[in-house]
Formats: sequence, structure tokens, C-alpha cells
Amino acid sequence: MTMGEEGPIIEIRGVYTAYEGADRPTLQDVSLTIRRGEYVVIGGPNGAGKTTLLETINGMLPITHGDAVVCGHHVRGDGIQVRCRVGYLLQNFSFDPLTPFTVGEVVMMGRFGKIGLFRKPGQEDHEAVARALSLLGIGDLADRPIGQLSGGQQQKVLLAQNLARDPDILLLDEPFSNLDMFARESINALLTRLVAQGVTVVIVSHAFDDLPDRTVRVVVMQEGRIVLDRECAPGLVEQVIRGCGGSTANA
Ligand SMILES: Nc1ncnc2c1ncn2[C@@H]1O[C@H](COP(=O)(O)OP(=O)(O)OP(=O)(O)O)[C@@H](O)[C@H]1O
Ligand SMILES: [Mg+2]
Repeated sequence: MTMGEEGPIIEIRGVYTAYEGADRPTLQDVSLTIRRGEYVVIGGPNGAGKTTLLETINGMLPITHGDAVVCGHHVRGDGIQVRCRVGYLLQNFSFDPLTPFTVGEVVMMGRFGKIGLFRKPGQEDHEAVARALSLLGIGDLADRPIGQLSGGQQQKVLLAQNLARDPDILLLDEPFSNLDMFARESINALLTRLVAQGVTVVIVSHAFDDLPDRTVRVVVMQEGRIVLDRECAPGLVEQVIRGCGGSTANA
């Protein structure tokens, strides 16, 4: 991560985000300031705009009004710079069975932003890939074709790909959805360590038993707006989200 930067790592002010062809923006007047090393849980019912918020932070959707600055770069206009610094684990992504890449190659793709277009992966890149595979406990899968793995194994590979990027921010959209309880526990411990090292984690999750043993920030969305934003003990997150009405995220 890049040290020595002052101020919030994510600063969104009065943002409206619209999907192409939609008659009104999905995100409505969203403001959110996140400091380096925060652990932020995004909750709210299906269709509330949680994924849209992550994709807005990552510069993947058009912002029609307002301003978003991530890692010191304006998301509007500088999205490529933002995405170099941000890891994004998509919700429910799965590979086609015939995808012609091995697990090792997929994780190496996480290094492309650092490697650049005209260079081959060096020792540092191979080491970063090996480290990420080992952190997820999937070193033995490195040579397997990605499309032939189970959903949970593919999810671990994509998380490894994002760790190999050495990101300042990890945006995780339901990272626990396909994982067994052992994987959930070990990834929870891993995220807790990363946050202690200064990585910022923004996670959409309904697995409230898999939160770090420290105060977390809860942001609840409804109908494209943030309706609650507060810190609380991990054991209270579910209660806080329920208290906002609607269902818990994807319950
Ligand atoms: N590609 C799209 N084009 C148009 N509208 C979309 C698109 N994707 C999502 N939406 C709309 O935006 C709103 C928010 O969707 P979003 O995927 O952000 O919800 P979510 O909170 O992540 O829900 P879930 O818990 O089901 O994942 C929904 O009303 C949805 O219909
Ligand atoms: Mg979603």
C-alpha cells in the first residue's frame, strides 16, 4: 500500500449513479467518507444498491452528479488509476467450464496493473501469486483449469487474485456466500490482519458471525440511499441492520 497519504481513502459526496437506459439514478444523493484501515459492513435488503455502491467506488458505473475521490483520484475521469489500487470481488461470479486459464494464471492477472502492458511477470510477481494462493490455502490448485473448480474454490481464487494486486482497498461483495465454515473463519482472520496492516475493507455480507473481533462500521442502504451509518460491536451488527426495517442483506 502507499503510505503517507493524508485524508480519507474514500470520499463520496452527493453522488447519483445511473445504469445506462434507466429512467432514474439507482444511487440517490449518497455521501460516505471512509478512512484508511476501516472495516465497513454494507447491509440492506435485496435491490437496495449495495453492489451499485461498490461499483461506483470502483469507477465502473457512470456518476451523473456529485463527486467521488478514491485513493486520491477522481473516480470520474481517473477510473483506471482507482482500479489499480482497489481489489473488487464480484457477487456470484463464476467461470465458464471451458475458460482456458489455470488458477495460477487467473491469480497472476491480479498483477497486470503493476506489471504493465509490455513486461513479463518477474520474480516479485510470481512470489506475490504464490503468497496469495498460500494465504487462501489453495496452492495445490495452481495448475488446475479454473472452470473445473467448485464455486467456493473459484471464489477463493478470485479473492487470491485481488490480494495479489496488493490493494489499498478491498471491495468484497458477499465473499462468504459459497464458503464452508472453515474457509469463512480463515478468511475472516485474514481480513482482520489486512485491516490491522492498513488495508481498507468494504464488505457486503449477511454472514454476521464472521466479522472481526473489533468495532466495525455499519452502513445500511435502502432504495439507493444510505439510511444509517454508525460504528458498533461486531455482535450487534445484525440487530442494527434489522432495526432499520427491511430484511438483512439478502436474507
Ligand atoms: N445492470 C443494471 N441495469 C439497470 N438496473 C440495474 C442493474 N443492476 C442493478 N440494477 C438496479 O439497481 C438497483 C440496485 O441493485 P444492486 O444490485 O445494487 O442491489 P443490491 O443491494 O446489491 O442487491 P442484492 O442484495 O440483491 O445483491 C436494483 O433496483 C436493480 O434492479
Ligand atoms: Mg448485490
